[in-house]
Amino acid sequence: MSTPSVVLTIIVPLIGVVVYLLPAPFEPVGFELQSPPYLGDALPVNDHLQRAEKILENQVLGPESLVFKDGDIYSGTADGKIIKINSNLELTNVLSLGSVYCGNEIECGRPLGLRFTKDGLLYIIDAHLGLFHVNVSTGERTRLVSGGTIVDGKPIVFFNDLAVRSDGMVYFTHSSTKWHRFQHVSLAMEGNNDSRLLQFDPTSGEVSVLMDGLTLGNGVQLSQDESFLLVAEGGRMRIHQYFLTSSREGEREIFADNLPGFVDNIRPSSSGGFWVALPTIRRHCLYDVFAPRPWLRKFLIKFFSPEFIVKSTTKPYGLVMEFAEDGHIVRRLDDPTGAVVSYISEVLDTGSSLYLGSYTSPFLAKLSLE
Ligand SMILES: *[C@@H]1O[C@H](CO)[C@@H](O)[C@H](O)[C@H]1NC(C)=O
Ligand SMILES: *[C@@H]1O[C@H](CO)[C@@H](O)[C@H](O)[C@H]1NC(C)=O
Repeated sequence: MSTPSVVLTIIVPLIGVVVYLLPAPFEPVGFELQSPPYLGDALPVNDHLQRAEKILENQVLGPESLVFKDGDIYSGTADGKIIKINSNLELTNVLSLGSVYCGNEIECGRPLGLRFTKDGLLYIIDAHLGLFHVNVSTGERTRLVSGGTIVDGKPIVFFNDLAVRSDGMVYFTHSSTKWHRFQHVSLAMEGNNDSRLLQFDPTSGEVSVLMDGLTLGNGVQLSQDESFLLVAEGGRMRIHQYFLTSSREGEREIFADNLPGFVDNIRPSSSGGFWVALPTIRRHCLYDVFAPRPWLRKFLIKFFSPEFIVKSTTKPYGLVMEFAEDGHIVRRLDDPTGAVVSYISEVLDTGSSLYLGSYTSPFLAKLSLE
């Protein structure tokens, strides 16, 4: 046989068989996405976010979620702390939910979504430790739901975001029943749909399932009149609207579909709508190539770590979008090179400024609205 035919008939199939037999660390799942919109489809790409100012650089690590109370900003950090920043940008540690002597994120905790109720109680969802409310003046804390709690036969792993209704009902998401927060890249590469929207009823103490079958469920936000919830389904690039009024309770619609990036937290905007943070842009990563091709992901994860695959194929970008209550896009703000802000996870709109949180950045970004 000639060399080319030996390669074709023996070596190539042999390599194929060996690769096929190599174990994959997990089983990727395929699904269809609509083709991604061009970045400037909805509204033109701009560079408004490059005017943002970095504050408390290297003092605030990974401020994923932010909340405003009596002139102070509260945030959770990558090392498990809840911090408070006053108007003079002085920083104080409020508390840590995890153990004091901790060696890893599961013990230290990783606070994500934060909410204050009208009477001043701080609700915190921690990716590992669960759902809490805290009296920030005394530090007194109550755990409402613990990490790993089994709901409808499946454990809550990777708590993500929460919203609290004025009667104390808590709506929250968990992104996985298997992967921890620090494994979010594996979660995205696997692509399964075991993420849920849950409800904690303070009267009965019960946790129940409102939505199942989500891929990377993320931000949760109540409408102003509390008639519906918005629920980010990050891995499907869409936002669900879940109705709470007695006449439509439990009904759902798609609020926004085929967005240009993964959807993270959703928070109120000062004009009565919602700010949506999109940390990773579809046209700047390979997610759309991977989604319908689980075999390609399965092939790659036999050779490379999911972190390596994602890191080497993703370009940073800063994007936040404002939506009106009826779902139309009001405006967008971009940092197209990620030079100032990227991987934005939440927008805090104080009326005069936007503060941008990010689960990776070692700072807060502030953009004046004047
Ligand atoms: C926090 O605790 C103090 C002291 O017990 C109490 O006076 C205050 O009302 C509590 N705050 C909230 C928001 O419950
Ligand atoms: C979730 O994934 C399973 C298995 O891939 C599939 O059978 C099911 O229809 C999916 N559910 C939703 C809501 O997409």
